[in-house]
Amino acid sequence: MTRRTLLIAANWKMNPAPAGFDAADSPFRKDGDIDVFVFPASLDIAKCVSAGIITGGQCGRRESSGAFTGDVSMTMLKAAGCASVLCGHSERRKFHGETDQAVGEQVKAAIDAGLTPIACVGETLSEREEGKTFDVVKKQISSLPPEISIIAYEPVWAIGTGKSATAAQAQEVHAYIRTLLKNPCRIIYGGSLNVANAKELLSQPDIDGGLIGGASLKIEEFHSIVNTARTLK
Ligand code: PGA
Repeated sequence: MTRRTLLIAANWKMNPAPAGFDAADSPFRKDGDIDVFVFPASLDIAKCVSAGIITGGQCGRRESSGAFTGDVSMTMLKAAGCASVLCGHSERRKFHGETDQAVGEQVKAAIDAGLTPIACVGETLSEREEGKTFDVVKKQISSLPPEISIIAYEPVWAIGTGKSATAAQAQEVHAYIRTLLKNPCRIIYGGSLNVANAKELLSQPDIDGGLIGGASLKIEEFHSIVNTARTLK
């Protein structure tokens, strides 16, 4: 069986675009056989789109317009040239109270707007320690419409901590998630993915790419991860 096309996604969070992101040889550009998406802060979406980078929003509201101070809608992201959007990143769930139901509604609105949403799921440390990982991701996934085509498994305890899941831990949850899905879907891993662990994580049969925060802000490191992915395609 040929591999699903690997997707390497950069989540810059609330950080400026790294210097050189728009250079001709930038690793943030799609190149060859793998997909590369970039999720910049909203104010940097336009410059990524005009640089020819496949760009996504870090969040979007389901309503297309209205009295929602500070937010942007899925239709606005599409009109700005975005191809994708993150839905339910753990930082949105934590700092903005996004529920499983709201995340499901966002995913549906994103698909309706012509975007490819990436729905983020994952357990906290205490949930893992209590043996609830599968239950948590099952509940999160049960709120998503069946048309979802990309899921990011991001254990909350691994995000920004420098402590990634082991390849075996990640593979186990990815394989479980796949059993829950009716339609073909790419399942990417996020949580302290870096140049040292990329090869092992991305070699797992059910890991179809990575959602990368900290290491995506260091252009050389991101370049190495993209090159690693390319050798595994
Ligand atoms: P990290 O972030 O790579 O810095 O752990 C990943 C994410 O939050 O998507």
